[in-house]
Amino acid sequence: TGLSQEEQKRIAAHRAVEQVESGMVVGLGTGSTAAHALDRLGELLRRGALRDVVGIPTSLKTAAHAAAVGIPLSDLDSHPRVDLSIDGADEVDPSLNLVKGRGGSLLREKMIEAASDRFVVIVDDSKLVPRLGASALAVPVEVVPFCHNYTLTQLKTLLNQQPHFSGAKLRTAADGSPFLTDNSNYIIDLYFEDGITGDLNAISDGILRLTGVVEHGMFLGIATEVIVANKDGSVVVLN
Ligand code: A5P
Repeated sequence: TGLSQEEQKRIAAHRAVEQVESGMVVGLGTGSTAAHALDRLGELLRRGALRDVVGIPTSLKTAAHAAAVGIPLSDLDSHPRVDLSIDGADEVDPSLNLVKGRGGSLLREKMIEAASDRFVVIVDDSKLVPRLGASALAVPVEVVPFCHNYTLTQLKTLLNQQPHFSGAKLRTAADGSPFLTDNSNYIIDLYFEDGITGDLNAISDGILRLTGVVEHGMFLGIATEVIVANKDGSVVVLN
């Protein structure tokens, strides 16, 4: 009963796009929820309700989708300051920390969203968790392909100190070969039972200190607002 998850995603996305004003530089997220925001933004631009918006896509897939719906595109080199980013998330904790990267776009997402004055996250209520890592989904880590098994072992050694750490594995594509990110890197997925306890910043630092690691999918202190669409059609804004 109630709305479908897809309808919930669309409601959250449309609510976020209401914050876009003419002339803004807008970070464009990746995933099924962000896709609704792209469609809406394109529609408003085509209708002339918004003008002179520049989109900064967080993935190659989003760049193609945004171009198809008529959003002009640029990048952080040309627009180092982003007014507003809109993106989904895999998990949101009570402090608005996120896990992202189920779609594999975490590196570009984090670069662009960390460069944004405001980062509005759009989710249906299934994404809310008491602690990061608490859902069955993984916490992804982008690693360089070079000696990725060595990096995997290093990650396991580091995280074995974590009480709820339950394993790490290389993400594979449908044909069994390693999943490749837009940056031609690999993803190692980390699993936790009941989520990560302890100091998230310390765990983040420990992971980032491993030389073969490029970035991870914990977005700590980056989101400024989370728009949650519930099954009954109501919307809650967390900030
Ligand atoms: C992409 O790499 C991810 O960070 C997505 O933003 C995240 O997985 C949310 O995707 P959905 O909106 O499809 O759940």
